[in-house]
Amino acid sequence: MKHVYLAMLVMIIVLSDSLNAQKFDGIALTPPMGWNTFNTFAGNFNEKLVREMVDIMVNSGMKDAGYEYVIIDDNWTGPRDSLGFLTVDKSRFPSGMNAMSAYIHSKGLKLGLYSDAGYQTCGGYIASRGHEFQDAIMFARWEADYLKYDWCNTEGLNAAGAYTTMRDALYAAKRPMLFSLCEWGNNKPWEWAVTVGHLWRTTGDICNCWDCIEDYGTYKKFGVIGIFDMQNGLRQYAGPGHWNDPDMLEVGNGKMTMSENRAHFSMWSMLAAPLIAGNDLRTMKKEVIEILTNREVIAIDQDSLGIQGFRYNAADSLEVWVKPLMKGDWAICFLNRSTKAKKVNFDWAQNIIIDAFSKRTLNTNETEYILRDLWAKKDIGNAKKNLIADVLPHDVFLVRMTIRSK
Ligand code: GLA
Repeated sequence: MKHVYLAMLVMIIVLSDSLNAQKFDGIALTPPMGWNTFNTFAGNFNEKLVREMVDIMVNSGMKDAGYEYVIIDDNWTGPRDSLGFLTVDKSRFPSGMNAMSAYIHSKGLKLGLYSDAGYQTCGGYIASRGHEFQDAIMFARWEADYLKYDWCNTEGLNAAGAYTTMRDALYAAKRPMLFSLCEWGNNKPWEWAVTVGHLWRTTGDICNCWDCIEDYGTYKKFGVIGIFDMQNGLRQYAGPGHWNDPDMLEVGNGKMTMSENRAHFSMWSMLAAPLIAGNDLRTMKKEVIEILTNREVIAIDQDSLGIQGFRYNAADSLEVWVKPLMKGDWAICFLNRSTKAKKVNFDWAQNIIIDAFSKRTLNTNETEYILRDLWAKKDIGNAKKNLIADVLPHDVFLVRMTIRSK
């Protein structure tokens, strides 16, 4: 009899524990930063390449600037073992995932892995459907810190259900992991995923251009500006621990001008988007490093208030974006979408910016600010007179407004 009571007690504890399943709290309080294999390498990578990237992340200053996660995207899983546990593709990772993980951690960085809610990943590799709890245990054994979870081959699955199952599996495996939902916005994850994951993709994949569409028949990829425009209306869903994800960066991938790279990086920062680089770090030019490691721009993205910016107005291909920051500061960004240079002439007195969402007002008649051009890296006076600047085609003029202490 005693044994029966004991067994019942254990069952109750196990059950109540799984009922209490939740996402891991206290991680991704600012948008995650890192580097991911997919944008440049798709399926062409192995442990040697990942190690090289890790080394460069450290030596180039990226790590010091905040890039933290090294994310091994699709195309790394091997067959399941006799007990059903996931293995790693030995041809790509001959030293095994534990060795890869140890290397990444030894450099002070964190490991991100990728799987998919279907039986197979988008690249046709083995994925987690039906093995969610077992895979989560394996990810934890490999000491992963981040899971990107894709949505290919999921016909008939309920998205909120499938992602919640993996959330519960990660929680049960007891290793805090950042959970990145890659469901492309199909089922409006911003409406249900706040308690499920730490970020959710809002769109299909980005591609390497400023403004183009790559059509693959059953799906399309969009350039930077296309993806950017699709973020409209989602601002209120983002905040510390749960971010909108407009996909990874194409900065430095070779098909955009430096202006476009700068604008892309600035706009992702104004959106409080994850900053996940996807370029070949081995060949990156000095200008690209300077963009990716501009700490003052990164500080706009990583501001601990965690409020996504918004478009204040747009006229003649010039958009004005603002983002409320900690301690009463603001970022203001002028985006030139045209192929011609534009002049900014912004009259503060005429523009009192009211943000109903954050309940903040930018009124330079009442508050004094010191202005700093974050790309030129210089102070540019105050807001007592019009803000004037020339903006190159597909570029930005990005300014931090710091409250002048009384
Ligand atoms: C999907 C995702 C991408 C990438 C690939 C990998 O397209 O949206 O970000 O992970 O799969 O195959």
